[in-house]
Amino acid sequence: MTATPIYEIRDLVKLYRRGSQEVVAVDHVDFDLMPGERLGIVGESGSGKSTLVRMMAALSRPTSGDIAFEGTSIVGRTDDELTGLRRGVQMVFQDPRSSLDPRMTVGDIITEPLRSRVWKGITRTDRAARLVEVMTQVGLDPQDASRYPHQFSGGQRQRIAIARALAPKPRVLIADEAVSALDVSVRAQVLNLIGDLVAEYGLTLVFVSHDLTVVRHVCDAVLVLRSGRVVEHGPTEQVYVDPQNPYTRQLLASVPRLRRDVNP
Ligand SMILES: Nc1ncnc2c1ncn2[C@@H]1O[C@H](COP(=O)(O)OP(=O)(O)OP(=O)(O)O)[C@@H](O)[C@H]1O
Ligand SMILES: [Mg+2]
Repeated sequence: MTATPIYEIRDLVKLYRRGSQEVVAVDHVDFDLMPGERLGIVGESGSGKSTLVRMMAALSRPTSGDIAFEGTSIVGRTDDELTGLRRGVQMVFQDPRSSLDPRMTVGDIITEPLRSRVWKGITRTDRAARLVEVMTQVGLDPQDASRYPHQFSGGQRQRIAIARALAPKPRVLIADEAVSALDVSVRAQVLNLIGDLVAEYGLTLVFVSHDLTVVRHVCDAVLVLRSGRVVEHGPTEQVYVDPQNPYTRQLLASVPRLRRDVNP
């Protein structure tokens, strides 16, 4: 029996117009993502990582090509038709300062996804119970739900963002540079938290990062983007130990701690 991919991405293109110029941010990308897979997306700044995952979360529309989520195309759908995706996929972004509304309490921020139209059936009591549950899961004190984001440290704010993403019990978690803005000491803790949660709930993870060391730690497959194109895609250890593409080799060679592991 072969499992059905949770995402099927076919010939995906995203063009941006900048004045009279066209930027090909995502250039004919093809790949499948299997349920439970932890996929790292790496590549230098501007290689199209965020553009790709934003389209996967239906936050932006492809110029051409197709994205199927759980067997159904999400391209060109209305909001009403995207209920499955909105319930099943949640994102965590790099900077919790801009992704968390400073005027909302932490409790309101975390339960916001559950107040959206796609979750009509959820009562206040359900939401309050879920709030306590997810705050505990990410290592926050549920008593702090009435406080505001600025009263927390950077690492705690990212825990708030993770709690909000988990609240609707998603099947896919997309983290776009979710630990990149954190201090090194805090980064490891938040990274371990993401790893633990993904394992515990059997989540499918899309983990965008320019940090190859971090990706090796959490992902079982890696996709390397360069100028919007996939130049390499394979199991993590294979890509790190025996990279096939010269650009991947160059990327890996620029990480001091990995250099000794990479074949010349
Ligand atoms: N809204 C936009 N309008 C115009 N061009 C854009 C827009 N968003 C991204 N781009 C361009 O598309 C390309 C890919 O950008 P993207 O943000 O996806 O890269 P990235 O790999 O996420 O980079 P980073 O590591 O810096 O986050 C870049 O050339 C960028 O300038
Ligand atoms: Mg980005």
